[in-house]
Amino acid sequence: MFSMLISIFVPQQIHDRVSCLGLSALNNVFLKKNYMSAAAKVYKRVTTNALIEMKASGTKISMLTAYDYSMAKAVDAANIDVILVGDSASNVMSGHETTLPITVDQMIYHASAVVNAVKRALVVVDLPFGSYQSDPKEALRSSIRIMKEAGAHAVKIEGGAEIKDSMVRILKAGIPVMGHLGLTPQSIYKFGTYTVRAREEAEAEKLLEDAKLLEQLGCFALVLEKIPAALAKKVAKAVQIPVIGIGAGGDVDGQVLVLHDMLGLTTEFSPRFLRRYMHLYDQMTTAIKQYVKDVKSNDFPNKDEQY
Ligand code: KIV
Repeated sequence: MFSMLISIFVPQQIHDRVSCLGLSALNNVFLKKNYMSAAAKVYKRVTTNALIEMKASGTKISMLTAYDYSMAKAVDAANIDVILVGDSASNVMSGHETTLPITVDQMIYHASAVVNAVKRALVVVDLPFGSYQSDPKEALRSSIRIMKEAGAHAVKIEGGAEIKDSMVRILKAGIPVMGHLGLTPQSIYKFGTYTVRAREEAEAEKLLEDAKLLEQLGCFALVLEKIPAALAKKVAKAVQIPVIGIGAGGDVDGQVLVLHDMLGLTTEFSPRFLRRYMHLYDQMTTAIKQYVKDVKSNDFPNKDEQY
């Protein structure tokens, strides 16, 4: 009976830990009670610690990108936990083929607009390509600009052991860092394609080691992009910090998508992991066509729409 209740109410990660500790049925009931209250916790403001609590309680973390005030306002009002001002702004806001061209100044422009809109979510901002790889001092300088000039709450950096020194320097300054492993789009010219990463054992092992290293250095969370679901599950079990996936399956601690992709504002990008919740591009062009028609036919403005 008790084990049935546990399997219904307690998430798999906690359930696994309890089972391997061999706790009594009575303790299990206490655990269920505590879990239920943790899950019900309402965060007025999401912090890095709140995300760690969410992982511990088995509460999934929701994360989306945003790059401007109006979109960020809607995303925040929908109770998203984390807003990422991603360097994918380079693609979806500026139409570049890759994320490489976007600059720190441009990231600050997007991030400050997002911060102006947000009341609840944690706002994480990508350090763009070229702003942290060359030396730790530059990495710190870029991060400080993003925190100070945009009002960001944390930064995100792509890479593992190879950017350890930059990571340490930023963390030492008290700036929270989110890691990003797997498909790291800033290295697209090294990879050559946007296909699934870490299918081979050697790359999978390095990814797992990198994830452990990022946790040990003090990252508060980690994004895993486009890797096999089984590997992502293994990583999420191996570290205590939240693992947020994009194309990494459901056995991680949260999910992130690019806002413009999930709203259907981008149409040319259709990877398997993308679920479209709207077809906004089509709806917008339909509305705009109607407006053009109304203007041309002198239907707009009508008598009620003028002074
Ligand atoms: O820039 C971005 O949008 C990202 C997400 C895909 C995680 O890094």
